[in-house]
Amino acid sequence: MDFERRSLLDVSDLSKEEILFFISETARVKKTPSQKFLPPSDKTVALLFFEPSTRTQKSFEMAAIKLGLRSLSFTTEGSSMKKGESVFDTARNISAMHPDVLVIRHGGSGIPWQISKMLDVPVINAGDGFHAHPTQALLDAFTIWETFQEFKGLNVLIVGDIAHSRVARSNIQALKKLGARVSVCGPPTLIPPMAEELGVKVYDNFDKCLPEMDVVMMLRIQVERQNSFQVPSMKEYTTRYGMTPDRLAKVKSTGIIMHPGPINRGVEIMSSVLRDGRCRVDQQVQNGVELRSVLLSKTLGIKL
Ligand code: CP
Repeated sequence: MDFERRSLLDVSDLSKEEILFFISETARVKKTPSQKFLPPSDKTVALLFFEPSTRTQKSFEMAAIKLGLRSLSFTTEGSSMKKGESVFDTARNISAMHPDVLVIRHGGSGIPWQISKMLDVPVINAGDGFHAHPTQALLDAFTIWETFQEFKGLNVLIVGDIAHSRVARSNIQALKKLGARVSVCGPPTLIPPMAEELGVKVYDNFDKCLPEMDVVMMLRIQVERQNSFQVPSMKEYTTRYGMTPDRLAKVKSTGIIMHPGPINRGVEIMSSVLRDGRCRVDQQVQNGVELRSVLLSKTLGIKL
């Protein structure tokens, strides 16, 4: 499949076959130790992170190291945006330095799309506002595939702040395309009003639906947004929607627990759950490097 110089802005840019191609390529690369590090390349990746990130930013950096790429890192702090330069002028200036691909994280929905329309360089969306996080959805799909080797008929539950989550939106799109049955659960104030129109089932009672699930994907409760009283208190949130040891006991022995990070330990997920053999959080982070290596290699036409 040819991805050279293609942008990846949303999961809707990808067919089911293309998602499966990324999964099989990531599996191939992960089990081939000789593919771990490539010799230096003359290609450059610009990592434009206008919003904080640990996993996505560092895994793209690690992927660049593995592919022998040069990388140009940008964060808002310490940049001329502090003197009033806009995000678009910033991207235009970085692009004038001729990187081969831009990886963009921004708090505003649609910013990577707008930049991709403005510049003649492939753009990878590393998370924009509430809109999309396609590389997270791909690495999550790969992580699920590693356990189950299939998607058809799998029951996947996404729990938490669905309304503000680009991870939820991209995962719903990807997993439904792959044939999984996707449901969401959370406080009614954090479930988008049109959720069922996305083709997902909506549950309010976590305890009731939990035993049916093969994959339970916990999301961060976005503490910084909770001063608008979307949940009565963090304690009540944990009581109703937290992944506690008691709830872990209700998860199928063959089930898995996921979380894209960052986690609020003790709020939506407890430390003992993170230590459980069914928890895939560390594997998700490792897979982020593998999946993003594959994506960068395909975008830049590098044989991996
Ligand atoms: N999962 C995720 O996007 O984490 P970061 O915000 O740390 O990149």
